[in-house]
Amino acid sequence: MNAVTIIAGMNTSSLPRIAVLATGGTIAGQAGDASNTTGYKAGVVGVDKLLDAVPGLSSVARIHAEQIASIDSKDMSPALWTQLVLRVNALLAQDDIDGVVITHGTDTLEETAYLLHLTVKSAKPVVLTAAMRPSSALSADGPLNLLNAVTVAASKDAAGQGVLVAFNNQIHSARDVTKTNTYAVDAFRSPETGVLGFVQDGRFEFQRGIVRPHTMKSEFAIVENWPMVGIVASYVGVLRVGIDALVKAGVAGIVVAGTGNGSMHATLTQALADAAKQGIAVVRSSRVGSGHVMRNGAASDDALGTVSAGTLNPYKARVLLMLALAANAQDLQRVFDTY
Ligand code: SIN
Repeated sequence: MNAVTIIAGMNTSSLPRIAVLATGGTIAGQAGDASNTTGYKAGVVGVDKLLDAVPGLSSVARIHAEQIASIDSKDMSPALWTQLVLRVNALLAQDDIDGVVITHGTDTLEETAYLLHLTVKSAKPVVLTAAMRPSSALSADGPLNLLNAVTVAASKDAAGQGVLVAFNNQIHSARDVTKTNTYAVDAFRSPETGVLGFVQDGRFEFQRGIVRPHTMKSEFAIVENWPMVGIVASYVGVLRVGIDALVKAGVAGIVVAGTGNGSMHATLTQALADAAKQGIAVVRSSRVGSGHVMRNGAASDDALGTVSAGTLNPYKARVLLMLALAANAQDLQRVFDTY
């Protein structure tokens, strides 16, 4: 971490003080020319420049900024997750910080957001944002997304709602949000639940609440030693070598991106039965992209000891499984039914 910047706002004493933690991503990306939105380098623009590009920010909040990392989020690591969550929790424990905004790449934002949702120990607002176009692009979406994220984080209404994602004028819950488009600026959706609310022109509004426990009510805490958990997909003609390789590598858990209701090719069923016999936790999710995965009882879950992921996609199911395994949670189906 480096570069701490303070931007003084108007009426400084009355404005909320928001910590902006930058991790990289396209929002901090730069290309050689303004029409280039694919051949750029992510995570190269510093947090001070990101903030400078947002007119009006200083009338919304006093900003404390930190550069946590400068990466393309495809390269996010569990070690950096630990560093980020520890820093967020430390900042939120300070009386002089009212909320946190995290700038992140869009590619793995949903995983980091869900991790924070389960491990932040504060009711103060935490809002992630990102961009689909680099900072150098015509109509870059980062500055407005950042302004909107700070607007949400600076509002008392956002407290106690778990970790939020402010993107393209919409507010999503970290639990439900997923990236659904490779290029469009409305790249995020919450497939089964819809948006939590919207933010526009300095005003934001929730349209629904969230029911499942998070942050202060989560039983999970951030860990330093991450259990190894892999993901395998089921598809036509799939070989079992992927699962066998994971088992050989010593994974503690496997998430299956199954077909339909988390079903899988018979080849995988046999390989996972073998893995489960060795004490490896197996969670069935779906590659479909929306809907939920129900327990399928005698067909597999009861027989093999596998767990259904509900509405969590494979990547979020992996986050929850890693935390549950680290916490030595005994009843994994209860964990997936709860969170
Ligand atoms: C990244 O995830 O860091 C690159 C892509 C993006 O932010 O849109």
